[in-house]
Amino acid sequence: MLRTIIISPERETADLLATTLGHFAPDVELFRVIHDYPAPLDLLRMLRACAPDVVFLSFENAALGAGTVRLLETQAPGLQVIGISKACDPNLLRESMRAGVREFLSDSFDVTSVADALRNLQALLQRKQPVYAAAEQILSFLPSKAGVGTTTLALNVSAALARGRENRVLLTDLDLNSGMLRFLLQLYPEYSIVDAMENVNSLDETLWPQLITSRFGMDLLHAGRVNPNLRIEPSQVATLVAFMRRNYESLVFDMSGNLERYSLEVMQESRHIFMVCTPEIPSLHLAREKMSFLKTVGLDSRVRVLLNRVPKRSMFSVEQVEELVGARVAYSFSNDYYAVGRATTSAQCLAQDSVIGNQCTEFARMIPDLKPGAATQTPHNKKFLEFFNIGTPQLLGQA
Ligand SMILES: Nc1ncnc2c1ncn2[C@@H]1O[C@H](COP(=O)(O)OP(=O)(O)OP(=O)(O)O)[C@@H](O)[C@H]1O
Ligand SMILES: [Mg+2]
Repeated sequence: MLRTIIISPERETADLLATTLGHFAPDVELFRVIHDYPAPLDLLRMLRACAPDVVFLSFENAALGAGTVRLLETQAPGLQVIGISKACDPNLLRESMRAGVREFLSDSFDVTSVADALRNLQALLQRKQPVYAAAEQILSFLPSKAGVGTTTLALNVSAALARGRENRVLLTDLDLNSGMLRFLLQLYPEYSIVDAMENVNSLDETLWPQLITSRFGMDLLHAGRVNPNLRIEPSQVATLVAFMRRNYESLVFDMSGNLERYSLEVMQESRHIFMVCTPEIPSLHLAREKMSFLKTVGLDSRVRVLLNRVPKRSMFSVEQVEELVGARVAYSFSNDYYAVGRATTSAQCLAQDSVIGNQCTEFARMIPDLKPGAATQTPHNKKFLEFFNIGTPQLLGQA
């Protein structure tokens, strides 16, 4: 499918062309008609939202047309531009060619000439797709077991990222059956990730702000109400993540731990998978089981353990945890009942002067330099592992 937009201050020209493009649906999708030459920031937002392959750009104002071509080239190299104008004017044609435009259409925009122009550009697009800037920092927070503190860490590490170098952070609650972000932060937008998935092909800079809430310097997308009948297609997830990647620098996903298909899709896109564990036998046992399942789908090398609620005297050392789980421990967070409780009751992030608040800030600073989490060696102390039932969990909760 070819994604297109029209930029034309001439309404009549835009309407005529839009009608012709309708003949090519669904192979050609007209995503947006803009009746003005957009300012640089608006153009950037529109590109992030629509990610077009082809822009039909009016040259009625040759200088503004040429300026827009330059912006398009810098923001999305490889994006193809077709110049348009009301009438066939050799001067405009020359100006558009000077600006680097290869195809030019005018007059009635008949189906044959539009088809020819699109065919020519499609050949170029097959060789080189437009390149849009996309977030590389995609982080999945996966609980080893329910209630180990995954949401607490995902939220507070995201907020710390937003305070730090990263200025566009999105935290998404992907725990579709018991997502807590909405309740914890008392988020009241009506819409949720479910609406984002349902409208994934029409997401843009007008719809998106209605789905998210901005808080703590970042954007949040909550999981909505419990809906066990929800079905999510892998293609919806891929399109949604692609939209998010174009619009943010860091994406953080708070997972359910059920390893649903859609969670695995997101994990496939993630740079790091942070498996949250407490230093207790049930949590570590399940972490080990999940780790061996993730190995079967080729995701084990992205896993790092976050040890949470670590008491002053822990039953297990970091080395033992690494041996048990089969993944490196990236960070240990203290058990700080008071700070966590205070944040929860006031629907806030952890106080930055608390021990665990500080730890979240410190860990967020470390993330850009974290190498993918190479799995640990085979355990030395087999006896120590005899406790643990080593099996491969089934894929739960098929979405
Ligand atoms: N480091 C910590 N110290 C003290 N309490 C904590 C800590 N981390 C989390 N908690 C508490 O543990 C409980 C579970 O936390 P949270 O909801 O973040 O876990 P979860 O893994 O996301 O759970 P769920 O399975 O419900 O998604 C909450 O009451 C939270 O306040
Ligand atoms: Mg949670």
